[in-house]
Amino acid sequence: MAENIFEHIEREHRQIVGLLEQLSSSYDRSTFDRLNTTLQAHTQAEEESLYPAMRSQESEMIERAEKEHAHVRELLKELKASGGDSSILTRLTQTIDEHVREEEGEMFAVARGLFDQSKIEQMSEKFEEVDHRITQQI
Ligand SMILES: [Fe+2]
Ligand SMILES: [Fe+2]
Repeated sequence: MAENIFEHIEREHRQIVGLLEQLSSSYDRSTFDRLNTTLQAHTQAEEESLYPAMRSQESEMIERAEKEHAHVRELLKELKASGGDSSILTRLTQTIDEHVREEEGEMFAVARGLFDQSKIEQMSEKFEEVDHRITQQI
């Protein structure tokens, strides 16, 4: 069976954390570009698949998560403009670590209780489609 949305999101989280570790040991533009592309696609895919499906039941949780995505995008811009400022990288890493913990913890626990198998498959397809589309666009 294909990877479901939860497995896909968790796999990308591990990639993102790995790229952040790489950047903190030595910053270079091509690693930044990979991180940026992965994060833009990942956050957009969540915002078009899992988040809208949960909004009516968990509006506060989803609003908070969207604000964190906006903060991540802002920090990516600042990091790029600074050419790799280490304090911005630290703030980005902390913001992402906390966000990932919330998603894989509370958010996934709630989501697993809300959705049946066919809804999970539908969201998984949507996540993959958006993730792929944005990755091609950047
Ligand atoms: Fe995520
Ligand atoms: Fe997220």
